[in-house]
Amino acid sequence: MDLSLTPEQSEIQALTRELAQAEIEPHAAEWDRQERFPRELFGKLAELGLMGVCIPEEYGGAGADFLAYVLVLEELSRADAGVGVTVAVHTSAVALPILLFGTDEQKARFVPPLARGEQLGAFALTEPEAGSDAGALRTRADADDDGWTITGTKQWITNGAHAGTFLLFARTDPETPGARGVSAFVLDGNDVQATKEHEKLGLHSSSTVDIVVEGAHVGRDRLLHEEGKGFAVAMVTLDGGRIGIAAQAVGIAQAAYDIARAYALERRQFGKRIGEFQAIQWKLADMSTEIDAARLLVYRAAELKQRGEPHTEAGAKAKLFASGVARRHTAEAIQILGGYGYTKEFPVERFYRDAKITEIYEGTSEIQRLVIARSILGLRERTIARG
Ligand code: CAA
Repeated sequence: MDLSLTPEQSEIQALTRELAQAEIEPHAAEWDRQERFPRELFGKLAELGLMGVCIPEEYGGAGADFLAYVLVLEELSRADAGVGVTVAVHTSAVALPILLFGTDEQKARFVPPLARGEQLGAFALTEPEAGSDAGALRTRADADDDGWTITGTKQWITNGAHAGTFLLFARTDPETPGARGVSAFVLDGNDVQATKEHEKLGLHSSSTVDIVVEGAHVGRDRLLHEEGKGFAVAMVTLDGGRIGIAAQAVGIAQAAYDIARAYALERRQFGKRIGEFQAIQWKLADMSTEIDAARLLVYRAAELKQRGEPHTEAGAKAKLFASGVARRHTAEAIQILGGYGYTKEFPVERFYRDAKITEIYEGTSEIQRLVIARSILGLRERTIARG
């Protein structure tokens, strides 16, 4: 087992860190306050190949591996978690599934504009009545001679107001309830209308909207994978996406730890630096240990995915653990900074607000536990009754 990064992975990590320090960190507080989606930034990321880092060169990407991509997400999220999720959804929830499930024609047509950053991608699964129970989705795709007419509402769609390509899930078989009647489609941005931009606790530099699709007609060339197999497309996509969100959580936790550590070495109370008190030392020791553990879970899951081995359980464990680490240790960072931590003079209050979502999106921590439990118990059949 070799736990060191390859020269290419280290180079991509360093390049992203440099870009994040120069182009993201100085603006992150302002984007947060103004709730501004920094559209122009993604052109700069694209110039460095970061909008398609793990996409093969023949499809317009940088041709690096999945671990390199995960390192990019960690570094971006360390500077601004909203930027991290924008790139995560764009890459692992749109470009990669098209690459995995698409025909040669679909891959050649839809992936390069995403990988080159000319378009953003959005993943449209969740609906008002279908969140954790994704298989309950109601968006309809009614078949006709040359394709489908799609009608429905999707909720909390990251990048939905800015995306040129949507991976959207709709029910092609109205007679079959649940996961089996669902198919996956690739839609253009102009097939979709964004209806509501959500105000959120954190992640203010990312855009989260509701969307409607009102009778958009799509040809058969827009069906991704087989008809009725869309739920598996969604699950396989989320298996990989969850590793990315876990990396985002590690990035947020690392950023909070960095500030807390530096503060503990500066701040003096009772005549000495607060880092000389055991109360603070133990907090920092726990933070550092658990961030390391979370990162190792992320690397293991990424490595399994890269090797094409099963990674559903490993990805769910990485997300479950890393998101908890991010929530707990961003709170500890505020505690170490005391009153300063609670103000906007330091970014730790932003990290705390941003961390919470990692326990919710791409499957809540409760759903990660369900996925892990089914895997370790070897339960294949449905364990949830459908009402
Ligand atoms: N890989 C491949 N296939 C899978 C799979 C996987 N990991 N998991 C399930 N499937 C298949 C099953 O084999 C089954 O196939 P058959 O019908 O052919 O037997 C089918 O999918 C249905 O599986 P289940 O019966 O297990 O499905 P379920 O209804 O019990 O749901 C669930 C399982 C894990 C709860 C799933 O609904 C789930 O993951 N829910 C959470 C949804 C989620 O994560 N949403 C995130 C939204 S996107 C987002 O957040 C993006 C963003 O903005 C950041």
